[in-house]
Amino acid sequence: MISVKAPGKLYIAGEYAVVETGFPAIIVALDQFVTVSIQTADQIGSIVSAQYQENSIYWRREDGEMVFDNRDNPFHYILSAIKVTEDYAKILKQPLGIYHLTVESDLDSADGRKYGLGSSAAVTVATIKALCKFYHLPVDHNRLFKLAAIAHFDVQGNGSLGDIAASVYGGWIAYRSFDRDWLKLARKTYSFADLLDQKWPGLEVELLTPPENLKLLVGWTGSPASTSHLVDRVALNKAKQHADYQAFLANSQACLKRMINGFRNQDLTAIQQELTTNRQILNELDSFTHVHIETPLLKTLCDLAEKHGGAAKTSGAGGGDCGIALIDKTKDIDALIDDWQNHQITPLAFNVHTVEE
Ligand code: PMV
Ligand code: MG
Repeated sequence: MISVKAPGKLYIAGEYAVVETGFPAIIVALDQFVTVSIQTADQIGSIVSAQYQENSIYWRREDGEMVFDNRDNPFHYILSAIKVTEDYAKILKQPLGIYHLTVESDLDSADGRKYGLGSSAAVTVATIKALCKFYHLPVDHNRLFKLAAIAHFDVQGNGSLGDIAASVYGGWIAYRSFDRDWLKLARKTYSFADLLDQKWPGLEVELLTPPENLKLLVGWTGSPASTSHLVDRVALNKAKQHADYQAFLANSQACLKRMINGFRNQDLTAIQQELTTNRQILNELDSFTHVHIETPLLKTLCDLAEKHGGAAKTSGAGGGDCGIALIDKTKDIDALIDDWQNHQITPLAFNVHTVEE
């Protein structure tokens, strides 16, 4: 039996701007995993997942037709990952087989609520990794990223794929997205083999080393948020509020550039300062898109972290899920954790996970 795992992620900074080609974000991989196991089967295969089931479907009506929204259903990412890996196996002339595929996830709370750790990305990466092993297909990080990005993009269609990069490369990364309009065209223009071999325009992943005294704390609000719907809402405002949106992008880019330099210089104070700046920049985005990124509970989470000497912000699309704090290890971290707990914020004792090539 083959069993492989892929980590979940949290955004540290640069959210929403990273959806535009070339705009940076910082993301970390966490020691919470999706595990995919594969066993050879005879005649009939199966796909089994306790957490991810096709038991409810969202849809709307368009021109009289039912249109399904599968973007928040991890099951569709499993199917897309299988399809992409089988396409890859075909170009390598590897015969396809029959198997039982099982998926288990730590990325959801015991009662099935999402923490917002990017389960759809982790499930995509883990499925592709497991199938590549099953079919003996060569994959390094770059190839795995491309395969998973294609599979994920086919289902979600509007994300930066930063969560895929975090799950593939692990640790702390600075990520810049490739041009997804190019990918759409390139898929029609190039053979699958050519597409995987070439450099993708705009794509950049830099591994970052955090300063020794940096401690990452994660607080969970307990309310799930839909990234794809929040990103849609920002995109709708983009055309209407062109000048504000361009200013947001420029501010985020400049902030992230300084923050990445903070990592390169091992300067916690600079990193914290830019985290606070990024929080303000996202609040400005909030004020003209009315997306409610920083909910009242996320605001409390951030304010409490600041009170205890840390810097904090929402993580990812916001609207619920998690917030993060960066704090000097020598500060009274227990006092902050207690304060969070007294305010209905659940501290999640997760650590950053590094991935071996
Ligand atoms: O809420 P999360 O952790 O899925 O993060 C979303 C981050 C965005 O920048 C808002 C969207 C994206 O795809 O990068
Ligand atoms: Mg989220």
